[in-house]
Amino acid sequence: MDTKIHSENGASAAARRKTRRRLFARFLQRAKRWFLLAVLAAGASALCDMLIPQIVRITLDNCLSNAEVPSPAVTSVADALGGFAYIAKHLYIPALLICILAGVQMLSHFLFTVGEAHGAETLVKNMRDALYEKMLALPYAWHQKHRTGDMISRCTSDIETAKNFISEQLTNIFRTLLLLVFSAVFMFSMHAPLSWIALAPMPILVFVSLLFHGVIERGVTACDENEGILSALAQENLTGVRVVRAFGQEKNEIDRFAAQNHLYTELWVKMGKWISAYWCGTDVLSGIQVLLVLVFGSIFCIRGGLSSGEFIAFLSYNAMLVWPVRELGRMLSEMSKAGVSLDRIFYIMEAEAERDETDACTPPLDRDIVFDHVSFAYTENKPILSDINLTVKAGSTLGILGATGSGKSTLTLLLDKLYDLPRECGSIHIGGVDIRDIKTSYLRKNIGLVLQEPFLFSRTLRENIAIADDGVGEAQIEAAVKAAALDGAVANFANGYDTVVGERGVTLSGGQKQRTAIARTLTTKKPILIFDDSLSAVDAETEEKIRAAISARFGKATVILISHRIATLCAADNIIVLKDGKITEAGTHEDLKCAGGLYQKIYHAQNRKEDTANEDENAD
Ligand SMILES: Nc1ncnc2c1ncn2[C@@H]1O[C@H](COP(=O)(O)OP(=O)(O)OP(=O)(O)O)[C@@H](O)[C@H]1O
Ligand SMILES: [Mg+2]
Repeated sequence: MDTKIHSENGASAAARRKTRRRLFARFLQRAKRWFLLAVLAAGASALCDMLIPQIVRITLDNCLSNAEVPSPAVTSVADALGGFAYIAKHLYIPALLICILAGVQMLSHFLFTVGEAHGAETLVKNMRDALYEKMLALPYAWHQKHRTGDMISRCTSDIETAKNFISEQLTNIFRTLLLLVFSAVFMFSMHAPLSWIALAPMPILVFVSLLFHGVIERGVTACDENEGILSALAQENLTGVRVVRAFGQEKNEIDRFAAQNHLYTELWVKMGKWISAYWCGTDVLSGIQVLLVLVFGSIFCIRGGLSSGEFIAFLSYNAMLVWPVRELGRMLSEMSKAGVSLDRIFYIMEAEAERDETDACTPPLDRDIVFDHVSFAYTENKPILSDINLTVKAGSTLGILGATGSGKSTLTLLLDKLYDLPRECGSIHIGGVDIRDIKTSYLRKNIGLVLQEPFLFSRTLRENIAIADDGVGEAQIEAAVKAAALDGAVANFANGYDTVVGERGVTLSGGQKQRTAIARTLTTKKPILIFDDSLSAVDAETEEKIRAAISARFGKATVILISHRIATLCAADNIIVLKDGKITEAGTHEDLKCAGGLYQKIYHAQNRKEDTANEDENAD
């Protein structure tokens, strides 16, 4: 199972960077204009932040005293407003200017927040859509290898973390950088030596922030991985709640969850300690920095060289300088978290989706199916199928019998391309065309596969049945339901076809579930039908009815029937027996029932059981 997240998709770093840039461009669709608004508003807000202390300084130093020689630009603005003396007598003018700037700042802050929120929400929506689309395009084999709970956690909390960073920090970084640069420029323009004193502790603050960033990144990776395991555990237990109850495993499962939850909590507690240590440490450092500025600023003020207006403005800029540097740690830590989450999201986005050969074809599929030297293994050195050679004549029925784990389902999954057959492991042809060259969606649309474990969605019966093909009409649904001998059950449901079947079809019996899955496959004509042990949960009489209805409806279809029941298989044109992935017997029922192999053994065992049952019935 996947818990590691980095570089598992095997792509080179350069290729990954290129893919990520492309993906980001896709995510940014319709979000860019909002981010642009946020950036412009952040610029305007930072400018207002810078101008307000300057108005205070000029009022103090040029209007209320002559502590400083005003620059020509300041003089011309003051003249336009009536001159310094006039302003000194009408102090509401600088106050009004400050109010106007504060108003502009409020408006820009509002626009900044709106732009940032819209941009982030649009970007995250694009991400969620893309992620979901990608997950459905990934091969079945990929899904088998990854825990659903972990994947859900990547689609929910990882996206949430990325969103929080984008909405709260991304544009903030720009604003912070602006504040840093503007503050430094204004400070140096007023008093260079005091500016150097103010900047002296900054390298230490930056160094501590970078150190903190590394620690947080490692901590968040561990937390995210553990969150994935925790959600997978919960998801599995909730899905398998029936098994948990049936085996009285509640306590064990609760303990297992509690242990994992404890581990997860411990990791966050540890992170909390690091975060507190960082804030405490930087509190002390910034306190020292402010103290230095206050002490030296006062000395410069007393000795001359720094006016009181400049000193007050300097202190405002210094606060603006310290705040972003301290925030750097938070930003970097949020960036670390978002980076880890984005890595986990990109892990899915970068996985190889199912893809057809560029010249994939759509040949007629009502032809012979040929398995040519097919061997297959899910994992290395554990062969499941070995050198299978088999021809299923078009329009014939093939029966497959075999012990559990002998590879029966695997054979059909390979035919449906749910697993790719490596080139060196033989080939499967339909009408002489290698299925690797056939368009996957076309192949699957034309193969009616009733899986061994039918899966129903928590939707209505009608929706579950109509899912197999677009535009399935009411008449087709009814005919399919009749063929699958489900009509009686539907008539008994209070809401008929509109009955919601519950999660995974929990409100249906095993047999009803199987028959719903069969009906789903029978809605439209398909040249190939596969029933993987699909009639095991229905009684012999109903099974007979279903088989008759199927052959009446799909007379010419090629049918592959997997079953453990001889009664199901005996009418097949050809029957094979699989043992440890090899064909050990092949022939008709008549050939095999006295061939002395597994088929004969099962035939006699099941006959004896039937005879005993009949005798019991007669005795009653
Ligand atoms: N996704 C998978 N990954 C690894 N091994 C698998 C996977 N699916 C099946 N197997 C293994 O492959 C072997 C064949 O499985 P398969 O489902 O084809 O058997 P089967 O003949 O259909 O059995 P049954 O009659 O119980 O349905 C089994 O040993 C099984 O454990
Ligand atoms: Mg099987």
